[in-house]
Amino acid sequence: MTANTIEINRLMADFDPHEPVWVFGYGSLIYKVDFPYLQRRPASIRHYARRFWQGSHDHRGTPDSPGRVVTLIEEQDAHCGGVAYLITPGEFEHLDYREKNGYLRVATELTFDDGNHATGVVYIAREDNGAFLGPAPERDIAQHIASSQGPSGHNSDYLTELAQSLRELCYEDEHVFRLEKYLAEISC
Ligand code: SIN
Repeated sequence: MTANTIEINRLMADFDPHEPVWVFGYGSLIYKVDFPYLQRRPASIRHYARRFWQGSHDHRGTPDSPGRVVTLIEEQDAHCGGVAYLITPGEFEHLDYREKNGYLRVATELTFDDGNHATGVVYIAREDNGAFLGPAPERDIAQHIASSQGPSGHNSDYLTELAQSLRELCYEDEHVFRLEKYLAEISC
């Protein structure tokens, strides 16, 4: 599958185009909020683990030297904490552009911190997208992140801002926190 997902996402018709929609963010969408929203609430989704397995050609790396950013990998017992935004459907044009490097809109059930549920959308970069990098030893991933940068800045800032945001939200993520620790060791 091509890495540029704009056209595929534009065709997604799971939601009423006139009604506000919840969008779940689990990576940069948690801390880089460059779009208007109606509500913002901590939330989580089940059966997915957050992993730095997606290549970034357009934000934290370049086509010749992609960085590493997060995607969600299906895992039966996992859950992933993040932030849900209630947006008007017009915001998808901007979000589809921002997430164009391999991420597809997927319908999902969200659980808010008060236990209530809603249906929403999450951007997931599946293993068959052209920018997928896949697993690697976490020390190697940290090294890769330490040495990458792109138009949106240093890849290391993506990792440290994500880790900091998850701490503020009181969400555990062993993968992210271990990578943050390895990155700090490399930077010393
Ligand atoms: C997300 O944040 O939900 C998707 C991945 C990213 O843009 O970092």
